[in-house]
Amino acid sequence: MIITIDGPAATGKGTISARIAEKYKLAYFDTGMVYRAVGLQMLLNGDDLENQEAALKIAQNLTFPQMIELSKHADFRSDAGSHAASVVSSYAEVRKALLAMQQNFAKNPVFADGSPAQGVIYDGRDTGTVVCPDADVKVFIDASPEVRAQRRYKDYLAKGINADYNQVLAQMIERDKRDRTRSAAPLKPADDAIILDNSHNTVEDDVAFVSALIDEKLNSKR
Ligand code: DC
Repeated sequence: MIITIDGPAATGKGTISARIAEKYKLAYFDTGMVYRAVGLQMLLNGDDLENQEAALKIAQNLTFPQMIELSKHADFRSDAGSHAASVVSSYAEVRKALLAMQQNFAKNPVFADGSPAQGVIYDGRDTGTVVCPDADVKVFIDASPEVRAQRRYKDYLAKGINADYNQVLAQMIERDKRDRTRSAAPLKPADDAIILDNSHNTVEDDVAFVSALIDEKLNSKR
């Protein structure tokens, strides 16, 4: 069973995917991590983010264990890290170099402790269109930029980070624009994806919605 959950930033994809992974005993791949790992390595190397050659070299040499190691760094999910990830993810060659690593995960899915899983849930921007076009269930989650900025803003405040809502909204709109208009794998729903606008939903509503789609698929396979 392969499930893909795609959509823009701050739609709650990660939270929903983790909950579904636990419920259905699926291994979980947060595919944004591959771009965050390359972006962070560029920052650590002092590379100019516009240097596509440098980004490509890092992407070609990235291994799964290195990605996990980089994910422990403070800048992996910081604003600077998010910006770097967004820039390197717009490079077609970088995306191509990171594809096999993402696709291979579904061939032999394992949990963090190395034990085998029944299947995989991917979350990202292109997992239903490019990474796993043959996935069993594809969901594209969306919400208005204002709702997503409000969620991100509240996350910052909860973490004690000083933030300005209007600035968070402006960054959200800028990142959306880059993700949706880049020529390589722009953010868009797969033709056979189910669209979920969760602007007014709770996480429980979303988990129930995705669970119903998976249960329907499982029943049809019996
Ligand atoms: O989901 P995230 O915020 O961790 O993603 C980080 C960046 O990587 C974001 O700008 C979009 C990009 N990304 C992508 O292009 N394709 C994916 N499958 C996942 C993330």
